[in-house]
Amino acid sequence: MQSIGRPTQPHAVEIKPDTLTGARGLLQDELLIFEHGGWDKTGVDLPQAELDASDLGDLVRTDVIGLPGLSEPEALRHYVRLSQKNHAIDLALYPLGSCTMKHNPRLNEKMARLPGFADIHPLQPQSTVQGAIALMDQLAHWLKTLTGMPAVALSPKAGAHGELCGLLAIRAAHEARGDARKRVLVPTSAHGTNPATAAFVGYVVEEIAQTADGRVDLGDLAAKLGPDVAAIMVTNPNTCGLFEREVVEIAKLTHAAGAYFYCDGANFNAIVGRVRPADLGVDAMHINLHKTFSTPHGGGGPGAGPVVLSHALAPFAPAPWIIHHEDGLSLDEDPVGACGRMSAFHGQMGMYVRALSYMLSHGADGLRQVAEDAVLNANYIKARLSDLMTPAFDGPCMHEALFDDSWLDGTGVTTLDFAKAMIDEGFHPMTMYFPLVVHGAMLIEPTETESRDELDRFCEALRLLAQAAKEGDVERFKGAPFHAPLRRLDETLAARRPRLKWTPADEAAAKKPRAAE
Ligand SMILES: Cc1ncc(COP(=O)(O)O)c(C=O)c1O
Repeated sequence: MQSIGRPTQPHAVEIKPDTLTGARGLLQDELLIFEHGGWDKTGVDLPQAELDASDLGDLVRTDVIGLPGLSEPEALRHYVRLSQKNHAIDLALYPLGSCTMKHNPRLNEKMARLPGFADIHPLQPQSTVQGAIALMDQLAHWLKTLTGMPAVALSPKAGAHGELCGLLAIRAAHEARGDARKRVLVPTSAHGTNPATAAFVGYVVEEIAQTADGRVDLGDLAAKLGPDVAAIMVTNPNTCGLFEREVVEIAKLTHAAGAYFYCDGANFNAIVGRVRPADLGVDAMHINLHKTFSTPHGGGGPGAGPVVLSHALAPFAPAPWIIHHEDGLSLDEDPVGACGRMSAFHGQMGMYVRALSYMLSHGADGLRQVAEDAVLNANYIKARLSDLMTPAFDGPCMHEALFDDSWLDGTGVTTLDFAKAMIDEGFHPMTMYFPLVVHGAMLIEPTETESRDELDRFCEALRLLAQAAKEGDVERFKGAPFHAPLRRLDETLAARRPRLKWTPADEAAAKKPRAAE
């Protein structure tokens, strides 16, 4: 157990810079899987192939494939060692604002592994997968009920993919009326995916200003709305962790201009069971199942970002549509009016099972409590830290507490330094420098799955760090993290010249110890 009150002392203790092997205590050093070599061996004992590849003629591969032939224990250890170098929600609180990193209940995993869900194939005849389609139908029912919307497209595979789905439906609806529109309005505080998606669909993106209290500026919205605006994209609760108080007025103004209201529902966790987006005038909204409904976040996939649609947009929902017949269910793969399809098949079945399992195990009252506890936890953190750190906005927050960096003025410590020092204290950093409208933003989202004890441990660590920064202990921050498997990286280089691919030509370089890079 971490001892709060016993700060790490990287400079008071003599630490040998390197071990002889590259390992750090029981934390093993680990190569990339390709660097293990052994391309000429195989980890399993396979029988001789019955068919030869002679029919392939010149196309028969003669060079090495470049896949290491690891045995099962070698492969297993590789992945376990890698996992130990990283943070995980199963290790501790994961306070990334805007990401809703909540516990993934193991019951959901158990359900997703049931052979009737895990072992089916998307090309199976629909008569043999009636249970799976029924599960999709039930999930759709819950999502429609919780949002008050009449239709849902389950297939988008992430929040950003859901945004694409919503905007494609919006574009199809305008085009069906012969009313091609050009602009999409997005608030300055929006998540980067919002303007990116609108631009990807071919719209010109225009910013809506923000008020001093962190909400959409209605005057600016009204001034920018016009007959060529296709949609607005507003996040609610927004990325400052605040509820858009004027959201009904926002919807009215938007509809009066003949535009649609796309709501970014990434923060639905804060209002699930309490607010139905349909009652606010929303036309389309994605729901990140990997946030609100606790399916695992998967580094860009396998996520799921279903999109609920209003009556106006439902006819343009992408394929497939679930159809009810007297004798069962089917998937219509080519419905008239659909704006296309978002994935080759029907989306992420494993995530559907997990999300529905989460819904059923909580029940309607439990889901309401999710939102209440998420908001309570964020406000608890805000209250416990506000005497040392500066909240970006006054008053209570929703699901995340947002601080700016003005409290660090004159300390020589930046938001980045502070976040890196959190790693040394055993916590994953909060979201940094987002939303962009807040200087040096620190966005903390604890979620409802953290106990009061864990919140206290977290707050105590941040308080000690904040005091250390104010007392001038700059060294603690500038070189942090001191105790992580990897020290501070050159983030600019990593972003500008990421090495995402390994080729055999890298082999010689790879033989050098990783630490030398
Ligand atoms: C407000 C907001 N919108 C959209 C997204 C995009 O969602 P995804 O990462 O599932 O594509 C995120 C993700 O963090 C978000 O926080």
